[in-house]
Amino acid sequence: MFWKMLAVLVLASVVVPARASAAGDQPSVPYVPTPQAVVDRMLAMAKVTAQDYLIDLGSGDGRIVVTAAKKYGTRGFGVDLNPVRIDEANANARKHGVTDKVAFYQRNLFDTDLSQATVITMYLLPRVNLQLRPQLLELKPGTRLVSHDFDMGDWKADQYVRMDANDKFSGAGGDSDIYFWVVPAKVAGVWGSRLTPAGKAHAYEFSFEQKYQVISGTVRVNGRAVNIRNAKLNGAALSFEFTADLDGMPVKHEFRGRVDSDRIIGEAGLSGSRIAARVEWIAERAARVANMETID
Ligand SMILES: C[S@@+](CC[C@H](N)C(=O)[O-])C[C@H]1O[C@@H](n2cnc3c(N)ncnc32)[C@H](O)[C@@H]1O
Repeated sequence: MFWKMLAVLVLASVVVPARASAAGDQPSVPYVPTPQAVVDRMLAMAKVTAQDYLIDLGSGDGRIVVTAAKKYGTRGFGVDLNPVRIDEANANARKHGVTDKVAFYQRNLFDTDLSQATVITMYLLPRVNLQLRPQLLELKPGTRLVSHDFDMGDWKADQYVRMDANDKFSGAGGDSDIYFWVVPAKVAGVWGSRLTPAGKAHAYEFSFEQKYQVISGTVRVNGRAVNIRNAKLNGAALSFEFTADLDGMPVKHEFRGRVDSDRIIGEAGLSGSRIAARVEWIAERAARVANMETID
């Protein structure tokens, strides 16, 4: 807690506007570099590879983007408002021989197109993370986000670690918190399916509620409702289970599929005393709830 307060105080020690405006942009966060050991851990948590495209928001001397390129062959770019930082980052990229993989732009992070990213890193401030959150939630499902020291309010992290960082704050030392999220697909609403195990068709209507990556809901099977259990949403990958009667006998249903906008495509496993089947599962969206931040 002490280190977290110190980090907020250090990072907020410059009076900055709530949001840097397009004209006459002011930094939303001052420069404090992430210790190299923390950079390494952030990239390991995100499992970055040469197939990824990484964007660091407020890239400072470029260490996160340069390390990802050097260690994993990851392409990407950083943005920073401060031209001195951009010069340092470009020099850093030259020094480590990764200028073919990375670029640095003097640009406001709020005006940056993030759609190319598969991984986004940040070391900003709690209120800046919250300002960014709506934009981050609109990114492609499966996009990974890693934040040094600061969370996203009630969007709970999928993974979190705390580590010692001896060289933090110009060598003063301290703890670093790392938060990791996967952007969830939008599944809230009503979806319809038909399954045909053993040649007989059954109608399913799924009603999902969603708060970020946390899913709950019910399913109506041939008109009777039961709660779904063990629902998991990791990016676009959705799985859940329930037990419902088919032809008067309880049948365990295990569903897994990938959400692609208004369709889910996957498979369902059904097991009961008279049935054991694995069938294709296609669900179509029947209705939609627009804003996942507001759904409890
Ligand atoms: C805490 S430092 C983090 C630097 C680097 N990402 C790291 O982890 O070592 C934050 C950086 O964000 C930059 N910055 C602050 N507000 C910004 C904005 N609105 N747009 C772009 N860069 C910004 C600052 O100039 C600073 O270099």
